[in-house]
Amino acid sequence: MKEHPDDVAGIYVLKIGGSVISEKGAERRARKEEIRRISEKIALALSTARAGKKLILVHGAGSYGHPQAKVYLKSRDAKDALITHESVKELNKMVISSLMECGVNAMPIHPLSAVVSKGLEIKYKIKEQIDMALKMGIIPVLHGDVIFDEKEGFRIISGDQLVVYIAKEFKAIKVGVGTDMDGVVNDNGAVIRKITPEDVEKMSIGGSAHVDVTGGMREKVYLLAKLASESNIPSILFNATKESNVYKFLVDETLFGTVISSS
Ligand SMILES: Nc1ncnc2c1ncn2[C@@H]1O[C@H](COP(=O)(O)OP(=O)(O)OP(=O)(O)O)[C@@H](O)[C@H]1O
Ligand SMILES: [Mg+2]
Repeated sequence: MKEHPDDVAGIYVLKIGGSVISEKGAERRARKEEIRRISEKIALALSTARAGKKLILVHGAGSYGHPQAKVYLKSRDAKDALITHESVKELNKMVISSLMECGVNAMPIHPLSAVVSKGLEIKYKIKEQIDMALKMGIIPVLHGDVIFDEKEGFRIISGDQLVVYIAKEFKAIKVGVGTDMDGVVNDNGAVIRKITPEDVEKMSIGGSAHVDVTGGMREKVYLLAKLASESNIPSILFNATKESNVYKFLVDETLFGTVISSS
């Protein structure tokens, strides 16, 4: 882990996409072996890093959130909002249990219980909880969720939005977003190694191959480009289904993917 001038360990923010830990083409189908593999890699990386490493983990909702949220967005019924939340919590429980089994202390922070929004203006009350977890040496694990919204009643918040908020708030020194793709690919299927905010305006990126109510890859790139331009925090989009990529990200080994940076 990189040294900070005041010797405070820098924050790493890592998102594991729903496309990695669930089958997005199905409904409520988890990839338990992937959850386990990633938990083992996180455990290994944390055991090899110098003490004080601080990681905030976010995971996507995958097939435990997007199809359910789609139903909610149509009905706007509190019952469907609850179904969405309960469902994504199930996936979160699998992630937490798996991390604990691998010896990593982890604690869920459910956005529904920690975030209120007013349209696009989001009032996060999540910071204090994350802060406490980090101080206690516990990895806070957040996820895409349904949240209360002062204007709309409920709103869907994506794991990607949470990544950007957390990275800004905690001045993250490293941000990684893992999906089932090697990065952002161009029309020929080749990975684009670097994207700047100016590039994004000229690009046409697809959403998702499956149900994704929060904009898929297009919105992800847009949000990360905003993080780069507004806060000068770069990020890397990489393939988290590949054996050691999560480990490589955490221990600062060379990682293939798409870097999104301000210049
Ligand atoms: N140009 C592109 N490059 C890479 N992936 C793309 C591109 N256009 C569309 N995609 C799609 O984006 C998907 C990844 O985004 P998606 O939001 O579905 O996954 P995720 O963020 O891991 O899931 P979740 O939202 O549940 O966390 C890929 O599986 C791919 O189908
Ligand atoms: Mg998505």
